Amino acid sequence: MKALLCKEFGMPDTLVLEDLPALKAEAGKVVISIKACSVNFPDTLIIRNLYQFKPALPFSPGGEVSGFVKEVGEGVKHLKVGDKVFAMTGWGGMAEEVLVDARRVFPMLPKMDFVTAASVMYNYGTSYHALKDRAELKAGEILLVLGAAGGVGLAAVELGKLMGATVIAAASSDEKLATCREKGADFTINYTNEDLREKIKSITQGKGVDVIYDAVGDKYAEPALRSIAWKGRYLVVGFAAGEIPKIALNLALLKGCAIVGVFWGQFAEKEPAQNFKNIQELAGYFMKGSLRPHIHKLYSLAEAADSLNDLMNRKVVGKAVVVTSDEVQMPKYEVAKASQQEIKTVAQVSKVGEMLVFKDLAALKSHIGKELGTSDWQTLTQDKINAFAAATLDDQWIHVDEEKAKLSPFGKTIAHGFLSLSFSPKFMYEMFKVESAKMGLNYGTNKVRFISPVPVGSRVRMKATLKDVEEMQPTGAKLIIDAIFELEGSEKPACVAELLSVVYE
Ligand SMILES: NC(=O)c1ccc[n+]([C@@H]2O[C@H](COP(=O)([O-])OP(=O)(O)OC[C@H]3O[C@@H](n4cnc5c(N)ncnc54)[C@H](OP(=O)(O)O)[C@@H]3O)[C@@H](O)[C@H]2O)c1
Repeated sequence: MKALLCKEFGMPDTLVLEDLPALKAEAGKVVISIKACSVNFPDTLIIRNLYQFKPALPFSPGGEVSGFVKEVGEGVKHLKVGDKVFAMTGWGGMAEEVLVDARRVFPMLPKMDFVTAASVMYNYGTSYHALKDRAELKAGEILLVLGAAGGVGLAAVELGKLMGATVIAAASSDEKLATCREKGADFTINYTNEDLREKIKSITQGKGVDVIYDAVGDKYAEPALRSIAWKGRYLVVGFAAGEIPKIALNLALLKGCAIVGVFWGQFAEKEPAQNFKNIQELAGYFMKGSLRPHIHKLYSLAEAADSLNDLMNRKVVGKAVVVTSDEVQMPKYEVAKASQQEIKTVAQVSKVGEMLVFKDLAALKSHIGKELGTSDWQTLTQDKINAFAAATLDDQWIHVDEEKAKLSPFGKTIAHGFLSLSFSPKFMYEMFKVESAKMGLNYGTNKVRFISPVPVGSRVRMKATLKDVEEMQPTGAKLIIDAIFELEGSEKPACVAELLSVVYE
């Protein structure tokens, strides 16, 4: 079998293509007859002895392959000869055969071609773990991806869109950024000729970005971190540009942000169940056609060193793939979606008078932790108190007997505790609406604390903060709102409550 060999550490040009004896299966391992091997950044490090794993010389680079099972070793139960599989091999992939631990080998999805199968696990596994588990990216948030046309970067763009984020793609050329737009990026920044900070400021109208996906490092890291929004998350994914940035920690303090490490390999090892769940979810998206890798170019084994050179020289957009025969062709996906970038703003939340208008539930979610507003004042007249007493059968004298109440410590009647609270639907209608919601607000009360009595004639208003939005099946959401019912002229509020509302799209 043919293999591209690293016999001494060095640049791609030092690799040599040689004929080797066919491989034999061993206990717990299988031999894969390779059809495709994708090119990943660690391949460029491993041949220079710069990677954390250091295989004995000679070895072939290439850590992600697809093909057929050629031979099965003793004790391997879940695979048989002829199965179409993909595998994370670490190295050994730029060859016609590889011997690999059977636990790292998985059956290919039905209908998936070899090139795609060799191109998805590393990029999408990393980026999904980063955005979902580490950043907890929410719909409606703004995601900035640095090195957005690279392998993991482009996967982050696609996944960010799928997760309902507004995506800003940053890369070094207009051609690369055009591909990012095809993959759904809403805004683009060419960081070779545009000022990263200024452009982020103008796109986000000064708010900054909620999540930064950084697989590049170097000189881009600090201006990106300086552009993060309050409570943003900065994902440290990789340092493709070479230099590991040293960041002044006061920036994290000033932004109230989190700098979060991402190490997909360790995550897969330490949290296999969670990783498996992620892979299953990703498989679902691939089956539906919601995710598709961008394949830059196919290289033959004889050209495999060029694929590594191209990656190192920043020429690859998406994924470079080495194939072992001419039969393995470029996959034909359905026509890519038209560019989503039009002249549009990030404002999915607008204000009409004092009312906040959310475009949809995603926009509402982006508002979690922020104020919804303050209602108008509402006067608690004796008529309202009487009507409430009649409706609730609570006609105690302190509420309704104005003469007797004059002798009470309050000097007048006081409203029922729940009367102020009962204004909350009215107040909420005044404060905000969700444009896409077909039904209005129901409401309930989770926790309530009455703090001050409310004498007749007092004026109350509600100040509300959106604490959380929980999705409800099929297309609704439960809103949890922290409300303070202020009492005019008093430092203490009438009551504080946690309100529950339901919105259906
Ligand atoms: N933490 C993890 O679990 C994990 C997992 C996978 C990968 N990674 C890391 O993520 C990084 C990206 O991996 P990848 O496979 O996506 O690589 P890639 O396809 O080569 O993409 C890297 C991108 O970085 C940019 N870049 C800027 N300066 C560069 C330079 N001097 N050399 C090469 N690229 C440069 C390039 O975009 P522009 O030309 O547009 O700037 C390129 O598209 C690597 O550091 C890798 O080790 C980390």
